[in-house]
Amino acid sequence: MIKKLVLLISGRGSNLQSILRACQTGQIIDTKIAAVISNRAAAPGLVVAQAAGIPTEVIDHRAFPSRAEFDIALQQQIDQYAPDLVVLAGFMRQLTDAFVEHYPGRLVNIHPSLLPAFPGLHTHARAIAQGVCWHGASVHFVIPELDAGPVIIQAAVPVHTSDDPAKLGARVLAAEHEIYPQALSALLSGRCKLEEGRVYWSDPIPSCANTAINPVVITPS
Ligand code: GAR
Repeated sequence: MIKKLVLLISGRGSNLQSILRACQTGQIIDTKIAAVISNRAAAPGLVVAQAAGIPTEVIDHRAFPSRAEFDIALQQQIDQYAPDLVVLAGFMRQLTDAFVEHYPGRLVNIHPSLLPAFPGLHTHARAIAQGVCWHGASVHFVIPELDAGPVIIQAAVPVHTSDDPAKLGARVLAAEHEIYPQALSALLSGRCKLEEGRVYWSDPIPSCANTAINPVVITPS
């Protein structure tokens, strides 16, 4: 049976592109992107999806009087596709508890930092300002608390003294494009599971070019 993803985006869509490529090349098997939904009509990622023949929808958050009403409309649209996973790929909206709790174990996000460091915005500038040696990206399950759910996979990249946020951000983004397809492939094939709030991998994670990668492989007893 073909599994279905619904991707939520707000902008550029480079993670969408990396996931699409993974579906097309067989890194992610037996899976299709059923729809891409954006809260911004001008999101360039919509063009990427349309060029690949993926149905797109725009639900503009500004048309709703409250966050809760926007989330209800979003949920109704997503559920029409009955996705196996709802994938936040640069979706820059905080979600209500009710929305998050509607997709237990099925809602995943990518965040441009090594969580729990630097939740929220401007992660690259904050990493440089803190003087950390390593920065990176995390794919995690979404829980009501912002950027705080169980981590599925992380990739670390070095911070160089010559870095500015753009340079560091580009290095992190390249790592994002590797780990998001890896995480989705593992979740969809059952090689990675969420059990009682913890993430378990049952086989080794593929290596990641130019990055250090974790977590270690753990098998539930
Ligand atoms: C990515 O860097 C992603 O990690 C970040 O937005 C960017 C989207 O880029 N997400 C967040 O900050 C969510 N808190 P993309 O549109 O090219 O995939």
